[in-house]
Amino acid sequence: MDTAPKSDSGAASTNLTASWGASCGAGAGRWALLVHGGAGDVPRASLPAQIAGCRAAAAAAADVLRQGGSALDAAQRAVETLEDDPKFNAGTGGCLNADGDLELDAALMDGRLLRAGAVAALPPFKNPIAIARAALEDARHVLYTGAGAARFAEAHGFVASANGAMVTDAARERLAKVRVEGGTGGWAGGTVGAVVRDAHGTVAAATSTGGLVNKHVGRVGDSPILGAGTYADNDAGACSNTGNGEAVMRLCLAKTVIEWMRGGLAAEEAARGAIHLLGGRLHAFGGLILVDREGRLGLARNTRTMTWAAACDSWSEIAGGA
Ligand code: GLY
Repeated sequence: MDTAPKSDSGAASTNLTASWGASCGAGAGRWALLVHGGAGDVPRASLPAQIAGCRAAAAAAADVLRQGGSALDAAQRAVETLEDDPKFNAGTGGCLNADGDLELDAALMDGRLLRAGAVAALPPFKNPIAIARAALEDARHVLYTGAGAARFAEAHGFVASANGAMVTDAARERLAKVRVEGGTGGWAGGTVGAVVRDAHGTVAAATSTGGLVNKHVGRVGDSPILGAGTYADNDAGACSNTGNGEAVMRLCLAKTVIEWMRGGLAAEEAARGAIHLLGGRLHAFGGLILVDREGRLGLARNTRTMTWAAACDSWSEIAGGA
């Protein structure tokens, strides 16, 4: 077995594009996956726990693939694991809006037939990505919002979370701090995502987030918008973005990099190009993870940190870094 490539140095500045890439091979039976825990500025002392959370998500997704699950199943499993981890800004522990409530965004896409499901401004349910999956399987509509998303979830057997059960002290403290500082739409980081290429060559992408701290009620970010935060196409690859959602939407960033990969750009090169666009054109912050149709993994960021973990059928260990 090969050893997983090590992470980049993690050197950071707002102008620097840090990137990482690895090639897992596209032959029959080969699979590869990459997860992220959000572009942001995680304090050095907290990084090991955040990277461990990403490794746990990558391990859970790898188990799904080893047991014959699809790319879609694995991407969902990775993101559910991160949604359940209160250290990340998704599901439990997600950041709070201006009313002090959770409004959650998530999307999931299958690269085979471009099937997709998404929820936006969803009130608290334990795993928004599972509700996005239900929308994908239901196939009538792609994107449900707010009260309608909650109705859809309940009609499909999901139970709304009890009042405040998914709200952490850390999320309350972040909101209080942003309110004191007078900010609106405060940067949160910590959006989570996964991209997977399974042994049959199918790719999938999944992204989930609480959005921005102190965001206006009803604000929707890039994560649940296909082609902005999330996209997957077997002819090109899969993408999950994190960062300033308004900028990512204006650039249609996920679809842009997908088209670059369709044209033959490798995942890491495409990721670096995306960050140059985001930082250079719009002076915005973010990061992204990619898998291309050849099974190559790539990530880039222009924030101080973006925790990640990766797994591949031929590696003896899970790679990870920030
Ligand atoms: N990128 C996550 C958000 O802006 O909501």
